[in-house]
Amino acid sequence: MNSSMLDWKADETLAVGKGATLHQFVATLGSDQLAIDVAPWGEAHLKINGREIAHIDYPKDRRQAFREIKKIADRYAETHMITTESTKKASSSLPPVKAKLLEGKRGLIVGIANENSIAWGCAKAFRALGAEVAVTYVNDKAKKYVEPLARALEAPIFMPLDVNKPGQMEAVFERIGKEWGKLDFVVHSIAFSPKEALQGRVVDVSREGFATTMDVSCWTFIRMAHLAEPLMRKGGTLFTMSYYGSQMVVKNYNIMGVAKAALECAVRYIAAELGPKGIRVHAISPGPLATRAASGIPEFDALLDKAKAKAPARSLVSIDDVGVATAFLAHDAARLITGETLYIDGGYHIID
Ligand SMILES: NC(=O)c1ccc[n+]([C@@H]2O[C@H](COP(=O)([O-])OP(=O)(O)OC[C@H]3O[C@@H](n4cnc5c(N)ncnc54)[C@H](O)[C@@H]3O)[C@@H](O)[C@H]2O)c1
Repeated sequence: MNSSMLDWKADETLAVGKGATLHQFVATLGSDQLAIDVAPWGEAHLKINGREIAHIDYPKDRRQAFREIKKIADRYAETHMITTESTKKASSSLPPVKAKLLEGKRGLIVGIANENSIAWGCAKAFRALGAEVAVTYVNDKAKKYVEPLARALEAPIFMPLDVNKPGQMEAVFERIGKEWGKLDFVVHSIAFSPKEALQGRVVDVSREGFATTMDVSCWTFIRMAHLAEPLMRKGGTLFTMSYYGSQMVVKNYNIMGVAKAALECAVRYIAAELGPKGIRVHAISPGPLATRAASGIPEFDALLDKAKAKAPARSLVSIDDVGVATAFLAHDAARLITGETLYIDGGYHIID
């Protein structure tokens, strides 16, 4: 990083004990005040808004101490600029609120990896309509991409959730129970299949590849419904993301098609079981979208071309199209619609 990002100014020279002097430098970064002080005996501190965040010692070498603490400040500035810029960019992509139709509703969104994720399209739509959202990220690597988006959504709950890590899913619902005491909607927008399983023939799939695909892509929705049920005392809506490859043999979709068929079936059973409690359950089936998950499917570009050419709307869908349709189903106006697999695909699925 260019160290000129921070413009250090000597603040004042403070006299300390034994006739020694402490040099202090200050810089401004957005709304943050950074201050460095360096003592002649090689001790340096970095404070941000009055709070010490770093301390180093270079005995008898105050110049080296200053250079090193400045590097720490530069790294802070770099990270700060990246997250501030990403948050600004993400905030500007939230659609302007026209009517807060979902005001008062609170929901959990699982599956945001980046700004191309379907879950992000859903989160933007729910938030724009006035709902509050809790957001999860899969691991530390993903956190830096998801955090600015969660901030743009003003998500009061932002937690790690890798469904393979025992206890993490329970921890998310427990926190929601404690902080919100209720839940109005859940968007489950995750799927996974090991490469060998996904890219091979269904007839060749290993037991392990099958189990992992079904576990992450289907069972986790069933478990989320189980954990959400006690929090949806006044009803609610559960969503999961499916694909047309559950109904038809779509080239290269392979074992994921089998998992999505099970997922859509689970939606119907859970809709029947939880319906009397006012809990509605839907699978959303978008047309192909160029997301990170989709990059694991060979010849995906051909799928996009075919979708555009064949769909009555002659158009590909966007994550925002998926988001608003999903948000509509969470509204009380949709209270008698449940157990659906809703296609958001420009009508592709009705054409031979
Ligand atoms: N992209 C498409 O064309 C398309 C079409 C129809 C349905 N879908 C479905 O939409 C959903 C979202 O996918 P996307 O296309 O937005 O891609 P994406 O890569 O943005 O999202 C997939 C998400 O799954 C999460 N995930 C994977 N393993 C996980 C684990 N162990 N624990 C927690 N999270 C995990 C990832 O972190 C990521 O956030 C998936 O169910 C996918 O099958 C995608």
